[in-house]
Amino acid sequence: MAVEAQRQTRGSESELGLEFGRRMQPTPQEARIVIQGGQALHGTVTVGGSKNATLALMAGVVLASTGVTGLKRVPRISDIANMATILRGLGVDAVFSEDQKNIRFDATRLTSFEPSDQLVTRMRGSLQLLGPILARQGRVRLAPPGGCNIGARAYDLHLKGLMALGATIDESGGYIFAEAPAEGLRGAQVYLDKPSVGATMNLLMAASLAKGTTIIENAAQEPDVEDLAQLIIAMGGNVVGHGTGMITVEGVEALHGVDFTVSPDRIEGGTFAMAAAITGGDLFLEGANPAQMRPILMKLAEMGVVIEEAPNGVRVMHPGHSLKATDVTAMPHPGFPTDLQQPIATLLSLAEGTAMVTDTVYEGRFRYLNELIKMGAKARWEGRTAVITGVGSLSGADVEASDLRAGAAMVLAGLVAQGTTRVFSVHHIDRGYECFTQKLASVGANIWREDEFGKRVEAV
Ligand code: UD1
Repeated sequence: MAVEAQRQTRGSESELGLEFGRRMQPTPQEARIVIQGGQALHGTVTVGGSKNATLALMAGVVLASTGVTGLKRVPRISDIANMATILRGLGVDAVFSEDQKNIRFDATRLTSFEPSDQLVTRMRGSLQLLGPILARQGRVRLAPPGGCNIGARAYDLHLKGLMALGATIDESGGYIFAEAPAEGLRGAQVYLDKPSVGATMNLLMAASLAKGTTIIENAAQEPDVEDLAQLIIAMGGNVVGHGTGMITVEGVEALHGVDFTVSPDRIEGGTFAMAAAITGGDLFLEGANPAQMRPILMKLAEMGVVIEEAPNGVRVMHPGHSLKATDVTAMPHPGFPTDLQQPIATLLSLAEGTAMVTDTVYEGRFRYLNELIKMGAKARWEGRTAVITGVGSLSGADVEASDLRAGAAMVLAGLVAQGTTRVFSVHHIDRGYECFTQKLASVGANIWREDEFGKRVEAV
């Protein structure tokens, strides 16, 4: 069955997919996560701060020309460490607390307008630095940012929006170079062709120090945008309409440092909810915000998972009978998040029936299915839609975490697969999940990390 599915899949692969398929051969000389499947997860997992919100808030820190900004509940992941290094290179003093959960920033003396190329090219979140550096310094030079290889990931809307605020943009030297007019950025009415999370955040930050009023129409409504708007308000800015499709920003002369607590990560919370569901377990997600997770929890409930909301988190239980297949369409918030499209596909690969999964956000986010197929899943895809038919069981295999959320999908598969699963390219997982193996092991998973020589190492 798996071979047949693989053939069908190959038939529909794009050229990019084929290239990807060639690259996706794990080599034994890599660190890996190893899982012996079959353990139901029970207990409590604490959900950390949102990765995407923290990255945006760290960019927002640059806006404060006086005082110190303290961010609390930041996740202990490599993207955050990299962003702190980028900020230090700009002259921002960034100091982590001993437990790494809080960071204090002093951005009063910015000494550079050029974030380090080497780190910027590793993560998409660095694009968020365009707006605040431009607003503070009058100019910014940034290498085109990296991040997960899941589609075109254009940034035209970021540039169009900044141009509407008066910036001139030059990309001729292989960098994005943006300059504000001598009199500074000015408020404008901006309509985003797509509700881009990053473009909304960049404009929000640039507009907060521009002269006059900016209206962002078709703005992203993701909770991460709300966190950033709340930070700017706390810093002395004027923002209304965040959390809706129209955000209005009244620029101010200057912003100041504040203390701010990051929202819990709904994607991490959703991943653990799925881990409880797929293993027939019972997990309490301490600190999770059920209101922000509604699109995820509703989908899991449709699949037969029992959800109980509590004042301090969410309980997710699945008594062990089969999950029911259900169609999933990933779309901008408040739709089902694209960042959980890959993990939920793992659940669907074991559900009763056939489901269609459509990703309206990214055009290239199905290639990980090749890896699930290696484990026995029955799936094929064409363009933005995949069709997944549940099978009775998955078998352990060597698989690749081709990007961050694909890595989570592979770990979920490993938790229930028969035998041993080794997930390679774990650096992708480290970008976005704090202490992933440690947290899973603490609720009963038989999971550990090995170095490139196959030696068991301390879980992180
Ligand atoms: C952020 C998140 C990412 C999440 C995504 C959608 C961070 C660091 N990353 O990414 O985890 O998957 O939101 O929820 O916060 N687009 C354009 N032109 C642009 C900008 C975007 O065409 O100028 C397209 C992109 O190619 C993509 C879609 O719009 O297909 C969504 O992108 P966007 O919402 O901007 O996502 P990011 O901010 O990059």
